[in-house]
Amino acid sequence: MALTRTLRSGAWRVVGLITTPLVPADYLDAVVPLRNPDVLRGKIVGVRPETAHSVTLTLRPGIGWRPPTPGQYVRLGVDVDGVRLWRSYSVTSAPRGTARGDDRFTVTVNEVPGGAVSTHLVRRARTGMIVHLDLPAGEFTLPAVAPRKALFVTAGSGITPVMGMLRSRGHELADVVVVHSARTRADVVFGDDLRALAARGRIRLVERHTGTDGRIKPADLDELVPDLFERDAWACGPNELLDDLEEHWEQSGARALLRTERFRPTVVADGAGGGDVTFTLAGRTVPAGGGQPLLEAGEAGGVLMPSGCRMGICFKCVLPLREGAVRDLRDGTLTVAEPGDAIPVQTCINAAAGPCRIEL
Ligand SMILES: Cc1cc2nc3c(=O)[nH]c(=O)nc-3n(C[C@H](O)[C@H](O)[C@H](O)COP(=O)(O)OP(=O)(O)OC[C@H]3O[C@@H](n4cnc5c(N)ncnc54)[C@H](O)[C@@H]3O)c2cc1C
Ligand code: FES
Repeated sequence: MALTRTLRSGAWRVVGLITTPLVPADYLDAVVPLRNPDVLRGKIVGVRPETAHSVTLTLRPGIGWRPPTPGQYVRLGVDVDGVRLWRSYSVTSAPRGTARGDDRFTVTVNEVPGGAVSTHLVRRARTGMIVHLDLPAGEFTLPAVAPRKALFVTAGSGITPVMGMLRSRGHELADVVVVHSARTRADVVFGDDLRALAARGRIRLVERHTGTDGRIKPADLDELVPDLFERDAWACGPNELLDDLEEHWEQSGARALLRTERFRPTVVADGAGGGDVTFTLAGRTVPAGGGQPLLEAGEAGGVLMPSGCRMGICFKCVLPLREGAVRDLRDGTLTVAEPGDAIPVQTCINAAAGPCRIEL
């Protein structure tokens, strides 16, 4: 046993000498990219169109993966035109059976017009493609004990985390209403699955087509779901819808029953300002609009920016502001740094309010 180990480590040292300056792990990484314990990656092993503008990708994660709690999202790092861009996507599958070593999971990507990553994945994702992964995260999940009555209000791609919950734990939910909006019937992501669940009596489905019926308003929900505030509710969709719902639940004294998941940060700053942003270590200065997050301005200028959720939650984008002023796009708060300062700012939700210097 000890002899085998000695021979193996000796052989590995010889390989190391041959492959210098790269270490053997670098070659192993190129040949079996899912087996590098330092870098979590996933391989796309299935691509299935859902609608004309969305696809479901099945991913096989590599070493270091941890299965998601239904409703959570994963961050995917995708190389687009030579630049690695990170975006979050909700897990839409039920666990397949970790005990059997099958960690595959799905995400469903809806194409955002002009969107760098969603367009790339919807049009170009192929089986065999390798993407970078982060561990699952997010609080938009069901409680350990399933509620007696549940309500899901979703619109567009906002159905994705809810589909993850329904597929994983739908059997625990005795009384479920799903109110889902999409532009047309053909645009309903998971339309067939949702209608099949409704036909089997597993959910009550209210399908709204905004192209003909208009956008859903909280007042519509009062009529559609008479016991609205007796239900534990989850909502995911455009920010305007979520703002309306949060206000409605708040006014009814039931805010604690509503959980919301936003795919984009809420922006209230009017976009005034802007200025040149200098990334001091990269030695690059880029123009930035007053309504444009520093993160996007940097990426547009070719700077490799750290990022996570891109909406102010995870703090992975924080960089020191060395000089100048930035404005929080969510509430307009101004942060000003004098020369010599190093004030941490979240670049995904702060924009330039004049020329500024960021340490990166
Ligand atoms: C927690 C979380 C879970 C998510 N889950 C999913 C999911 O399951 N499926 C899914 O398709 N997307 C999901 N998203 C959104 C996803 O992360 C990306 O934001 C989206 O794919 C757009 O990225 P992009 O690179 O194509 O667009 P970008 O290049 O980043 O943006 C292009 C333009 O589109 C605008 N834009 C960005 N996102 C949206 C949006 N969602 N709707 C409308 N306009 C937008 C931008 O402001 C910009 O003007 C989730 C986001 C979060 C934070
Ligand atoms: S990327 Fe998550 S807080 Fe900025």
